[in-house]
Amino acid sequence: MRTPIAAGNWKMNFGPRQAQQFAGIVRDPLNAVTGAEVVLFPPFIAIPTVYNVLYGTHIGLGAQNLSDQLGGAYTGEVAASMIAELCRWVIVGHSERRHYYGETDATVNTKTRVALDADLTPIVCVGEHLADREANLTERVITTQVRGSLGGLPAEQIGRVVVAYEPVWAIGTGRAATRQDAEDVIALIRALVSELYGQPVADALRILYGGSVTAANVGEFMASPQIDGALVGGASLKPEFVDIAQIIASAKASS
Ligand code: 13P
Repeated sequence: MRTPIAAGNWKMNFGPRQAQQFAGIVRDPLNAVTGAEVVLFPPFIAIPTVYNVLYGTHIGLGAQNLSDQLGGAYTGEVAASMIAELCRWVIVGHSERRHYYGETDATVNTKTRVALDADLTPIVCVGEHLADREANLTERVITTQVRGSLGGLPAEQIGRVVVAYEPVWAIGTGRAATRQDAEDVIALIRALVSELYGQPVADALRILYGGSVTAANVGEFMASPQIDGALVGGASLKPEFVDIAQIIASAKASS
């Protein structure tokens, strides 16, 4: 039994003031969700504010990125140990980091190790571009990303890793993947993780879908036994995220 996850990636939205206001609105209804782990990912500068708002609830808190370095003279970077003072979660290798900031599978692999060493739970993102899908390269791209991003991690820590499948063409486009597309790639990811770490690890691995998830379509994804939750962007900036979290929890409770 894999506990489902409703994760809200706020991306570069909500400074401390807006974050405080929004977190104040969703706090109690999100805290009332049982049967799913609910996690918010504010921008770094809003994390302390949201930490205070969420204090005393069981809503999780995470960062959207972390440094691959442990500390010291790296201007503008934030170390895993600093994040771990306030958060238990971190997103690693989001497609926007890969695309705009040049993160490679090697960077993502290093950051995942660093996150695990700091006792954070990393959500490691993979996903193909539209051109990959149209050229029938999805399987090859995902295989390269999974092996490169997740290969060689310490066996005793791998159980903490969460993977998010976010097809790049579905992010922020309003064009979500079909349940079948998501299910096919997620089954592939599970098979690849089984090759790397064995079947029990693959069976226990939580794999989320992300890309234009809304309250209207999340139920369809959650009806798949392969899909263990959602990584939500745009809709996590609205009270709609409460509905999404409730749907994730109840879909899995009844399956
Ligand atoms: P959207 O839900 O806005 O498509 O974003 C998905 C995403 O990238 C979450 O990390």
